[in-house]
Amino acid sequence: MTVHLSAERKNELMGQALSLAARAEGMTSPNPLVGAIVLDADGEIAGRGWHQKAGEPHAEVLALQEAGDRARGGILIVTLEPCSHQGRTPPCAPFVVEAGVARVIAAVSDPNPQVQGKGFEHLRAHGVGVETGIMAEEAVRCNEAYFLWWRRGRPFLTLKAAASLDGKIATRSGQSRWITGEAARDAGHQLRNKVDAILVGVETVLKDDPLLTARPGGVAGKPLTRVVLDSRLRTPSHARILAPRSGSSTILAATDAAPPAREKALREAGAEIIRGEADPQDRVSLAPLLELLGSRGVRHILVEGGGRVHGSFIQEGLADRLFYFLAPLVVGDHEAPGAVSGLDEEKLQSLPGLFNVTHEVLGDDLLIQGYFKRPIWKDAKDWTGV
Ligand SMILES: NC(=O)c1ccc[n+]([C@@H]2O[C@H](COP(=O)([O-])OP(=O)(O)OC[C@H]3O[C@@H](n4cnc5c(N)ncnc54)[C@H](OP(=O)(O)O)[C@@H]3O)[C@@H](O)[C@H]2O)c1
Repeated sequence: MTVHLSAERKNELMGQALSLAARAEGMTSPNPLVGAIVLDADGEIAGRGWHQKAGEPHAEVLALQEAGDRARGGILIVTLEPCSHQGRTPPCAPFVVEAGVARVIAAVSDPNPQVQGKGFEHLRAHGVGVETGIMAEEAVRCNEAYFLWWRRGRPFLTLKAAASLDGKIATRSGQSRWITGEAARDAGHQLRNKVDAILVGVETVLKDDPLLTARPGGVAGKPLTRVVLDSRLRTPSHARILAPRSGSSTILAATDAAPPAREKALREAGAEIIRGEADPQDRVSLAPLLELLGSRGVRHILVEGGGRVHGSFIQEGLADRLFYFLAPLVVGDHEAPGAVSGLDEEKLQSLPGLFNVTHEVLGDDLLIQGYFKRPIWKDAKDWTGV
């Protein structure tokens, strides 16, 4: 008989475990974020842990190691089902059994078919009580890119734009630095620390010559995959995005329309060239590119524009989340690029909208964020598997 926990106490502890998990945001991919807390037989916290990096110990193991003998007869609270298979590290479920905890309270089952349900089965088969479904939806949201990968087989797409009040992301000559103030730009940089790859269109490379790296002060030395949609390989060989940066790599996604001589020059400049399918407009076809990036372990991509690229992802139903930084200025020029272009929906009620919308004031700017209204995100509850 383990100590009784009220529903409020379970939620409170699971909330703490989710906060522990979130400490490693951007560092664990392709693994999930996981946090764990061990209570001793008297209900006192005896250990805490979170998964810090792929290949390093899992959250449950760290929390149980900290608890030591105090874990015996206690409770393990964990944000995701303990794994039961040998990966880069040994399976957790047998370790949990060995540590002698009487009960496991897990938020949600792991969607990875190698684990799904098997971790719980192992625990139950060895006499450990299992309870699931505590803050399940929050636990799915905490690992939305991981869940999307296992449920839909593609990376999670976050779109980011910084726009004027009239929705423009640059002047007609392509000047976009800086539309928003420092606080908003800092927040934009923080996003880069949470993803595996950053993607832009070639016009943005030609106009802005961006580096697309995570700013120092974020996750130290975090390598990012930088991707440019560039059907005909118009990226200049001297573009800053090709410069090697702390393990980051650059992929230019092209089609067969790209001249072989450009391919050679850009390879020599340090880029990886991927020639893929063309879409009906002879641009890079997005779905096969995402599949390829996903097969390389990319789970979360930040799409940083420009407007045509945003429009393509929204049009194809591939945009999951939006971070829209709105600055208090007006460009007022119909030839200036907009934050999203190329959509052809005429009915107001059919336009892509957002849900779970939040607003935040950042200096003089406003950050509006939310999820694109599409069935896959409306059924996040159904992904909990409980
Ligand atoms: N304020 C901000 O947040 C922000 C952020 C980024 C950019 N910007 C500004 O935005 C401007 C550029 O925006 P933009 O809309 O003109 O261009 P863009 O979206 O940066 O690039 C569009 C180009 O990407 C290539 N592409 C390849 N496959 C594509 C696909 N499937 N869908 C869409 N594009 C594809 C196409 O060129 P090919 O046919 O040659 O492949 C296309 O013309 C610049 O002035 C930049 O300063 C502002």
